[in-house]
Amino acid sequence: MYLQRRNRILRATPAIRSLVAETILTPNDFIAPLFIDEGEKLKTEIPSMKGYYRMSLDNTIEEVKQLWSLGIKSILLFVKSKDEFKDNTGKEAWNKDGLMQRSIKAIKDAVPGMVIMTDVALDPYSSYGHDGIVKDGEIVNDETVEALVKMSISHAEAGADFVAPSDMMDGRIGAIRQGLEENNFTKVGIMSYSAKYASCFYGPFRDALDSAPGFGDKKTYQMNYTNRQEAIKETLMDIEEGADIVMVKPALSYLDIIREVKNAVDIPVSAYNISGEYAMVKAAAEKGWIDENKAIIEILTSIKRAGADLIATYFAKDAVKLLND
Ligand code: PBG
Repeated sequence: MYLQRRNRILRATPAIRSLVAETILTPNDFIAPLFIDEGEKLKTEIPSMKGYYRMSLDNTIEEVKQLWSLGIKSILLFVKSKDEFKDNTGKEAWNKDGLMQRSIKAIKDAVPGMVIMTDVALDPYSSYGHDGIVKDGEIVNDETVEALVKMSISHAEAGADFVAPSDMMDGRIGAIRQGLEENNFTKVGIMSYSAKYASCFYGPFRDALDSAPGFGDKKTYQMNYTNRQEAIKETLMDIEEGADIVMVKPALSYLDIIREVKNAVDIPVSAYNISGEYAMVKAAAEKGWIDENKAIIEILTSIKRAGADLIATYFAKDAVKLLND
């Protein structure tokens, strides 16, 4: 054959392949989520998230030091609240001496350069396990937003760099931005979970924080996964209201959405490679059905290729180690 173009030329050796690789992962791509527990010296494996732990603050600080030394520059904090602190107002969420607030301060002191992002939603503090306040069996929007503003301000007071509202109430980004401005937190960013879908893949996370909804589901606030246009509407509204970074969540069943959002906006886009996506890789690897390390890099590369500038992932540490090898 005399061929004018031979595509295999660019795939011939590892060196050529890396010269023409279009998507390269680096430690700067990752946000490492951390689950924090009350107590001391605790490191509890989450049964549905093999190899991932909920840790007391002392161990969390050691973990953050390690992440920083590996080149990971941001963390996303979640706390597991004690049952006795849970009620329908979620008021523990803005307790200035609460576990989240103490954690933010202690981590800032220990690793000042680390970018601290904090989850903002009432579910870990809600006796109903919902992201908002419940009235007559419904999750009420406007009162919840008031609570989320208080929660965000208290995270900012403690030293958070970004608050990350994951609740999907209407108008919360604008209200939080206004609250931050009124309280002079002009350097605190908002990473909005803008297109967050009602997904079955959050299950393991809810095990980790004991935060599964006590009744019903989250479909009156999280998005219907049948929808694409709505993701753009939600995202553009959040940007108008003052979001600095937007997010698509989950990631893997939503790679198309990540790409569309990326094409539609001019601010950084993040994607959350969530707990159920982590659990599936772990389970298949444990069975010997896939090569875990290869799966991690392929999955994270696909999320970046889809358009994510940042990826929140439980694989952050593993990925950086693999990239260094
Ligand atoms: C809570 C919240 C959830 C996640 C992040 N923040 C769960 C939910 O909405 O029920 C999920 C993260 C994951 O599954 O890894 N608002």
